[in-house]
This record gives sequence, structure tokens and C-alpha cells, in this order.
Amino acid sequence: MKPESIQHIAFIMDGNGRWATARGMDRSKGHRAGMEALERIVMACSERKLPYISFYAFSTENWKRPAREIRAIFLLMEYFFRRRMKDLASQNIRILISGDWSALPTRSREIAARCIRETAQCTGTTVNLCMNYGGQMEIRRACALWAARCQQSGEFSIPDESEMQELLYSGLPDVDLMIRTGGDHRVSNFLLYQMAYAELFFSDIAWPDFSPGDLDSILQQFENRDRRLGGLSLAAQSAAQ
Ligand code: IPE
Ligand code: IPE
Ligand code: MG
Repeated sequence: MKPESIQHIAFIMDGNGRWATARGMDRSKGHRAGMEALERIVMACSERKLPYISFYAFSTENWKRPAREIRAIFLLMEYFFRRRMKDLASQNIRILISGDWSALPTRSREIAARCIRETAQCTGTTVNLCMNYGGQMEIRRACALWAARCQQSGEFSIPDESEMQELLYSGLPDVDLMIRTGGDHRVSNFLLYQMAYAELFFSDIAWPDFSPGDLDSILQQFENRDRRLGGLSLAAQSAAQ
């Protein structure tokens, strides 16, 4: 089942730590279970032929966490790329990464770059993993890139929509549907520019427990949302004529 109007879904995969703590386990075990949920949801999105999916894996603010937890998160990412690279390619899934890679451990950067290369020709679902990503940083970076271009050409202008897409990390279409698990109702600096007209869904389910069935239920609810995008609903439009 796939609502035809969905191009881009963004997931804030939250609740890993609390999931583990509630079970008397170390937070890193929650991230491990979260990685398995990521694998399941990536495959489910591919089976449902959803075109673009972004996953918030590590934010520019997550550096505030203990070094041990940060190390565990990067090790799991490396493990995901290494273990899943072949499956992703055989499922025709293309991998992109958004964020400032330069601060990531060398091994994480190398394996992520390999995964991007090996899946570059895939034409099915595009999976955009956001690592050391922050929406404010992405917009500030875009401003700096544009300012440099204006300086070079000697002309000042405001970027149009397609120029702006080029200035952002991934150039993906705007987000139609944002799903945050873990019970909190905020966007935590995720895809701020791209979420201008996203439908927002907040689930109390912790990310490690989020299932393809939960995704289907949200997709069904999404279909009933009246996305006016600043215009009028069909009913109001025909009444006004
Ligand atoms: C989200 O889960 C994963 C990352 C931020 C990397 P959390 O680790 O934030 O889990 P909670 O919110 O503490 O439960
Ligand atoms: C958002 O979750 C970041 C990721 C899921 C990677 P956080 O747990 O970091 O967000 P806050 O601190 O609750 O806003
Ligand atoms: Mg959290």
C-alpha cells in the first residue's frame, strides 16, 4: 500500500535509549535494536516502492552524549553498511548520506563512501541517512555556498527553488510525511527547510519496536489528511466557484 502522493518520508528514529533502560539494558543495546528496526523499515519502504526516505541517525547536537555511546552508534552504522551493502544493491536501493562527514571516524567515512559507490546505479528507493546532520547547519552552509557564488559572478540574487535544492546536502524533494517515534513532539533540527509543508506524525512507540505494520497504519492516516498547501480543499474550492 502506498499513497500515490508520497515522494519523501522522513523518520526521526527516537526512543532507543529509553527502550533499553526500561529493560535494564545499556543504552547501546537500544541503539543495536534500533539498527535492526532501521533494516526492517528500509526493506519495508523498498517493498512499498516509496521513492525517497530520510533517516535521522546522528544529529549535530548528539556530540553532547558520552563518548562511549557515540562510539557505539558509529560502530553500529559501520556494521549496518558492511552487513547490508549487498542486500541494498540487490534490492535496487540507493544510499545517500547527508551531513558533515568530516567529523566522523575514518572507518565510518570509508565504509559509507563504499556503500554510496556500490549503490549509485540503483533506481529503486533512495535511502538518505543523515549523519552529523543539523537542519540549521545545512541552511547556513547553503547560504555560504550561495554567497561565494554571488561573489564570483558579481551579481546578487536569491536562489530559486532548484538552485536551493543544489545547495542543500542531498537535493531530494521536500518531505511529505515526517514520522517521529519515542513520544516527543518536536523536530529536533531535522530537515528544517525540506519540512515546510510536511504532515507530522508522532508515535509513542519506541523506534526499536516500530514495525512495517505501524508504518502502514500511518500511511493510511496520511491518505486522509487534507493537504491544502496554502490553497483550498477541493470541497471549499468548488463551493467558492
Ligand atoms: C535516538 O534514540 C537515536 C539517536 C539519537 C542516535 P535516543 O538515543 O535519543 O533514545 P532516547 O530518546 O534517549 O530514548
Ligand atoms: C533526534 O533525537 C536525533 C536523532 C534521532 C538522531 P534526539 O534524542 O537527539 O533529540 P532530542 O534531544 O530529544 O530533541
Ligand atoms: Mg532521544
